[in-house]
Formats: sequence, C-alpha cells, structure tokens
Amino acid sequence: MAEGPNVPLLDLKPQYLALKAEIDAAIQAVVDSQYFILGPTVSDFESDCRDYCEVPHALGCASGSDALLLALMALLPGVPHVRGQVICPSYTFFATGGAISRIGLTPVFADIDPVTYNMCPEHTAALAEECDNLLAIMPVHLYGQACDIDAILETGERHGVPVIEDAAQALGTRDSHGTMVGSRGAVGTWSFFPSKNLGGFGDGGLCTTEDPDLAERIRILRVHGMEPKYYHQEVGINSRLDALQAAVLKVKLRHLEEWHAARIDNASFYDAAFAEAGASTSMTPLSKGGFPLRTPHANPAPARHIYNQYVIRVPGELRDELRSHLSEEGIGSEIYYPVPLHMQECFADLGYAPEDLPESLRAALETIALPIYPDLTGEQRSHVANTVVSFMNQHAACMQQ
Ligand SMILES: Cc1ncc(COP(=O)(O)O)c(C=O)c1O
Repeated sequence: MAEGPNVPLLDLKPQYLALKAEIDAAIQAVVDSQYFILGPTVSDFESDCRDYCEVPHALGCASGSDALLLALMALLPGVPHVRGQVICPSYTFFATGGAISRIGLTPVFADIDPVTYNMCPEHTAALAEECDNLLAIMPVHLYGQACDIDAILETGERHGVPVIEDAAQALGTRDSHGTMVGSRGAVGTWSFFPSKNLGGFGDGGLCTTEDPDLAERIRILRVHGMEPKYYHQEVGINSRLDALQAAVLKVKLRHLEEWHAARIDNASFYDAAFAEAGASTSMTPLSKGGFPLRTPHANPAPARHIYNQYVIRVPGELRDELRSHLSEEGIGSEIYYPVPLHMQECFADLGYAPEDLPESLRAALETIALPIYPDLTGEQRSHVANTVVSFMNQHAACMQQ
C-alpha cells in the first residue's frame, strides 16, 4: 500500500491556482468583449508567439492536429488530386500520420534513433530514395527534444520537398545550434493541448513560418479557404483558435520559461537519483547489462530539451509490472506510445510487419513516462525516484539469477 504522497502523471491545478486572478481576468475580458472567434485577443497572442518562437508569422488554429493538416494543405495545393507520400516517424502521437492519411496521401513510416527516440535521419534518407512521388517530410520533436533537423532538411533539399516540423511537444525546445525548433522547416506546427508545456483550457494549435505567402495561405485555409469574405477559390477547413483559449494562453506564455526550468530541474533530479542507483542514459543499449534502467538522453547545450515527457527505458518484461507497482504506490505514469503507427490497425493496408521498424517496436515495449510537471514537490519527486529504484533493484537482482 502507498506510503508516500500521491503523484499524478500531471496535475494542472497548482498552475491554475497560482495564476487564477490573472487568468480569470483575461477570460472575463473576452466575455465582456463578446468577441469569441479570432479577433484582437487571438492576434495579440499570435504576436507573442512570433516573438517566442523567433519567427515572423504565427497563425492560431483549433488544434495541433489541424495545424498539421493546414501545413500540408498550404504546402501541397494539388492535394487531394495528387497522389504521393509523406515520410514521418512511426513512433509518435497518431496525429502526425493521421494528418497525412486524412488528406489522401500515403504515410511512409521511418524508424527512430534508439537514443533520442526521434526519427532516424539515415532511415529517412533511405526511404526518400525509395518513394516514387515524395511530397514532404514530417519529423517530430518528440517529448520536447529536437530531432536531427539538419540531416532531415538536407534530405528534404536533396529531393526538393518541404519539411514540416511537428513541434507539438516542443514549444521552447532548441536544436543543436541553439535555434528554436519549428523555425527551420517550411512550417512548424504546435499544440496547446492541456498536457503540453503551454496548455490551454481545451484544444488549440498554431502554425509558424518564415514565408509570408505560406502564412497567407494558412490564414485563408483556416477559414474555409475564404478570401475575400464569402468568396472561395479553394476548399479549406474551419480551424480557428478561439479568443478564450488565446486569452488563457497569453497569460500562461509569460510563465513558460519558469515552467521549462522546473521541468529541467525535475529531470536532473531523476537523472541523478537513477544514476546513483547504477542507471546509464539511453546512449547505452539495455542489452549491455548493468542496472537495467536507461534515463533519457538530452543533447548538450546550446540544445535544450524541455521535457514535455520524461521517459525512461526498462526491460520489456518488467515495464508493465513497474507501471502497476507505481500505480499501487499512488504514482501516475503513461506509455507513449504502446502501438507505433506502422502497427496501427487503420494502416494495416500499408503492409508493414511489426519488425520492419525494430527500434519503434522496441521503444513501444520498453519505455514509460514518469511525472515531470513543474509543480511536483520535492517529496513527490523523491517518492517517484525511490519507488522506481527499489522496484528495479528488486527485479534486477531476480533477472541476474
Ligand atoms: C507529436 C504530436 N503531434 C500532434 C499532436 C496533435 O495535437 P492536438 O492534440 O492539439 O490535436 C500531438 C498532441 O498530442 C502530438 O503530441
């Protein structure tokens, strides 16, 4: 039975309570204005996002999933009359592959790098050679860590196709040059789903781009392709950020850097606690033995991992048991993601076998996310670390017998 404090995977209440007066006032101001869709509050927030993301254009939309759709639609105007492929990782949230399929294109799934869990650049380059009509490449900055965007952009350039950066989990992440992710591909896409480092009070999303023409296309596509009012040269979608979300997000954005710092501090605490118990980072494969727990690898500064998730790796035969044990001890956890996209039933007709992408398959069996949110107390994070370490110590000993 649990003796330590309860530790949910994510608890947003302390964050809201700390900012309650500011957030409530911002919501009330929108209610007073009765201006709910797009409008000045959304424009203000978009302007803050431009500054934060270090890009000249930012356009709010209804979700991170829609941001991906809008990016694809803006970049590939011939679709759905054109058939072709878009490469994305298999090990990601469903929306990445779903957006490609939703607009009638074929997702081609790349395997991941087992150290960072991000799309493998070499496999991406090899797949690009095999595609008969490659239209775009869509990497993900998974868990809040930059993928190898240099290598992926190079593949995109070699094949003359745009790169869309799915940065849903990575608002504030910096790549190996210290550059904000989402700013180097043709379009960066973001999600304000409540569990993101910057989360709204509901759904919300954003597209960013350096290109004024693309920005204009996205601006038109998000309102049914309408320009001017009630005239439609092409069919868009209805995907607008609403003013209530923008008002909440604008307040929260001012605190985002503090929250990143707190997540990074929590990650360092876990890293140190697990290292003391004998863990190494995911640079060392589990098969190399030692204490069978791998902490997440973080690319060195000026790169910055913002730890939207803190994901450890343990032997597959222990992972679900560890999760049940954590739950008995009052600790929340999650499996991101138990079924890679190439194994999803809806993509069965693409003909992948599970072992086709071995690193995605292995990660799906061996990884588990621990609570990392900024408001974790010292007592809570110690309880998480101690519970994981004592479980792994017990089971590591059994494995060696
Ligand atoms: C990598 C990734 N892409 C896209 C999305 C979709 O974002 P939303 O839930 O806002 O539609 C998410 C959200 O979880 C995500 O994690």
